[in-house]
Amino acid sequence: MTRAGRPGEPAPFLWSGSALGSATGLPPRCYVSPEIFALEREHILLHNWFFVARTEELSQPGDYRAIETVGGPVLLTRDETDGLHAFANTCRHRGCLLLEGSGNRRSVVCPYHAWTYRLDGRLRAAPGMQAVPGFALEAHGLLPVRMAVWEGCIFLNFDDAAPDLAAHLGDYPELLGSHRFGDMICTWRDEIEVACNWKLLLENAMESYHTGFVHAATVGAQTSVTFPTRGEWHAIQVQSRTSIAMLETSGVPPFPPIAGLSAQARQGAFFTVIEPMTQFACAQDSMWWLAVRPVAVDRTVLSLGGCFPRETVALPDFATRAQAYYDRWRRVAEEDVGILEKQQRGLRSCKFRPGPLSSRDDVVHAMNDWIRARLPIEL
Ligand code: FES
Ligand SMILES: [Fe+2]
Repeated sequence: MTRAGRPGEPAPFLWSGSALGSATGLPPRCYVSPEIFALEREHILLHNWFFVARTEELSQPGDYRAIETVGGPVLLTRDETDGLHAFANTCRHRGCLLLEGSGNRRSVVCPYHAWTYRLDGRLRAAPGMQAVPGFALEAHGLLPVRMAVWEGCIFLNFDDAAPDLAAHLGDYPELLGSHRFGDMICTWRDEIEVACNWKLLLENAMESYHTGFVHAATVGAQTSVTFPTRGEWHAIQVQSRTSIAMLETSGVPPFPPIAGLSAQARQGAFFTVIEPMTQFACAQDSMWWLAVRPVAVDRTVLSLGGCFPRETVALPDFATRAQAYYDRWRRVAEEDVGILEKQQRGLRSCKFRPGPLSSRDDVVHAMNDWIRARLPIEL
């Protein structure tokens, strides 16, 4: 969805669709109905790009990482010639999960009947299959999942016919380009299981209205501006001349700012949602992701990860100082999760009808409209 406004010019809020004053959130069944969750999976989640990992997490030939996704288990591999691959993590014989976790290996051996695959997905051996007429190793390689890499960020899409990642990202690289994600290194990962609908996590990320209340003990009240965008993404910027990726109260000085940040990027931290499941937050010294993995209508896994510029990671006291960032990212995420689990419970009331949205819910409204436009039912 394109968000209207002067190109590149942020505003306190950007409103589109039904008018402020009459606009409400999505009906509660969008957050509690398994049938609507199934429609979202079928019409949205399996047809759009989503972030799963960083390329430096698979830096060596033989590196692999097994991940769960909304489309089932996926295996990322780095082959002997440095090629990066994404496959369905399922054996071509009778569907056994092939690998778990992450590590380094020379081949992928199915734990069930030992069919053995190369890291580029080709089937190398299938013991005992000689007697099967017409069986050919070449016909049973691992099933690829569509993958694209932008600035070190690995995205997947289960739809081979969907527009490419560049089209999906639109002008995202223009606003976020000076952060140079491609020169960053992931140094931290975490995961939180959340008892709420996946959309609540994303809506929450894109409004600063709640921050003075939910985050009173950490980041406190914030103000933000909204950016017009072209492509399938949204952006706000929380205004702060110093990094909000760590808490001032930690007593640790923040890391130096990223070299070459744009004038706009120096004004604060961008909070962005790349529809439908990816959040990248970018302060002046770091970026962290909050990627959602919908599991059921009221269950979501939130994947967190943190990245810093190469020069920052090389600082002698990096590991100690970085703890203040990891602590802030986890604590603030837990505060959000706490309120969202309450929101999920409240949304179950048979009496609830969506109330009026605030001007500070402008991106929530845009995200709700993005969903409305893609489901085959009237909401
Ligand atoms: S299921 Fe993998 S070898 Fe049989
Ligand atoms: Fe929050």
